[in-house]
Amino acid sequence: MEQNNRIWWKEAVVYQIYPRSFKDSNGDGIGDLCGIISCLDYIKSLGVDVIWLNPIYASPNDDNGYDISDYRAIMKEFGTMEDFDLLLREVHARNLKLILDLVVNHTSDEHPWFQEARKSRKNPYYTYYHWWPVEQETPPLRPSYFEESAWTYDLHTRAWYLHYFSRKQPDLNWENREVREAVYDMMRFWFDKGIDGFRMDSIPLIAKDPAFPPIDRKKYPDLFSSYAHGPHLHEYLHEMNREVLSKYDIMTVGETPHTNADEAALYTDESRKELNMVFHFDHMHLDYDENGKYATNRVPLVALKKVMTQWQDKMHEGNGWNSLYWCNHDQARAVTRFGNDSEEYREISAKMLGTCLHMMQGTPYIYEGEELGMTNADFTKLEEYKDVEALDIFKDFTERKGFSKEDTLHLLHLKSRDNARTPMQWDASENAGFSEAQPWIRVNANYKKINAENALADSDSVFYYYQKLIALRHELPIITDGVYELLDAENEKIYAYLRKGEKESLIVLCNFTDETVEYEVDESVKAERSKLVISNYKDAPEKFASKITMKPYGAYVYYTK
Ligand code: GLC
Ligand code: CA
Repeated sequence: MEQNNRIWWKEAVVYQIYPRSFKDSNGDGIGDLCGIISCLDYIKSLGVDVIWLNPIYASPNDDNGYDISDYRAIMKEFGTMEDFDLLLREVHARNLKLILDLVVNHTSDEHPWFQEARKSRKNPYYTYYHWWPVEQETPPLRPSYFEESAWTYDLHTRAWYLHYFSRKQPDLNWENREVREAVYDMMRFWFDKGIDGFRMDSIPLIAKDPAFPPIDRKKYPDLFSSYAHGPHLHEYLHEMNREVLSKYDIMTVGETPHTNADEAALYTDESRKELNMVFHFDHMHLDYDENGKYATNRVPLVALKKVMTQWQDKMHEGNGWNSLYWCNHDQARAVTRFGNDSEEYREISAKMLGTCLHMMQGTPYIYEGEELGMTNADFTKLEEYKDVEALDIFKDFTERKGFSKEDTLHLLHLKSRDNARTPMQWDASENAGFSEAQPWIRVNANYKKINAENALADSDSVFYYYQKLIALRHELPIITDGVYELLDAENEKIYAYLRKGEKESLIVLCNFTDETVEYEVDESVKAERSKLVISNYKDAPEKFASKITMKPYGAYVYYTK
């Protein structure tokens, strides 16, 4: 809702919690809701406005809660509905907001709808899912993100059911109006409790052509990209907005794989009344190779600037809104992937990355531990990985793609989703203060050094730097409103950009290398009266000068009027 013409979620910073790995309160090695409650003051002290929780609903945990068996119940391991109600009250009492994950492309195969559906083709719930009856012979080619095929044969109904993810995640049939009504009803249940929004999982995938025509392989060399934007997708989202979202003062963010900036405008253009913003993947794809995500490439800076700029420009022109992120529960750790996690540069590069992202237009998302500069996991054995994707990749790469075990383990170390899922590092005590028991996934051995207690005791920590970045966003409206303009697009070391307002502007300069760079800012940039608003170097020049020595991973932001 607009207050004095301002929209709260445009000025907000979101903190993402992966509940399984955040804080265990009852000593079973698994994070839970009461654990989160006990850490709310910590989150509040960072200065963020919104908390997003990954799925907390009843689930057999084939995909850590992204396989939901009851949308209106809390996962047993995470606590009870009373715990949730208390969490929501405690969040609101601190003037924070809470958003939940909405996972409605699929349910768990243990959801009562699917249990009914697979009883017989005549069962009223059969049409809640997508089936390919045996009479029609082999189902059309559709790979699964987590398995070889997205079709699994069900003996009882004598039909294959569709699952874009694991076989324990059958896809819902959104073409069925009853399914949509059931989802909207469930959403109202949570909004009526008082939650402040949803992050919508895999949302471009929900709409499908039930005839499953052959995929045009010229148009979609990567078969998965054909899954997005099926028929009626935007009608469904518009309908969801009309029937549910528009009735509440909430925020929505769609997770939109396979979506370019032009397509994103369709979701986020305010006048279309669908979603507020989306998570795009374009910057996540820059280090892919012919085998996709599991590759050893580093992200080239010129390409990164191009992609980020495209989104900044398109969302601005298209009346949409960006969400800004370096990492989440599905990605490697930001500092390892985009920065430098060596002893020498970990903190400084983590701060640089934070600066580069948080000065852009959009709503920034901080993933738990990012504010500590937490690094990728240090696993050396396959047994240490827990993620369904990691296990599938290991099988695929070693058995089908001919990679050695060592090389595949190295790829998992670089890219596995478990890198982001190791327990939050709270202090130097056993299990990093995450739990009294052995955690469900191994703690990173660097916890004795990298932990929240140390960060809070060090005024120069990544934590306090993030705190300052967030405070700046709240102080300076230009960070929300200013027009973004890239400088020096072809420079391979420095990311330089402006944010321009009517009378003021920001100059943002970030060194993405471990070298000292003598940098000359584009001569068009003039700033006679300027002041440094933030830098990760204490001796950064107080005033802007067009010739500047950029120290390794240096970040310098100047404000001028
Ligand atoms: C999204 C989630 C991911 C999950 C998948 C299936 O990509 O972020 O964690 O595995 O959807 O629900
Ligand atoms: Ca627990």
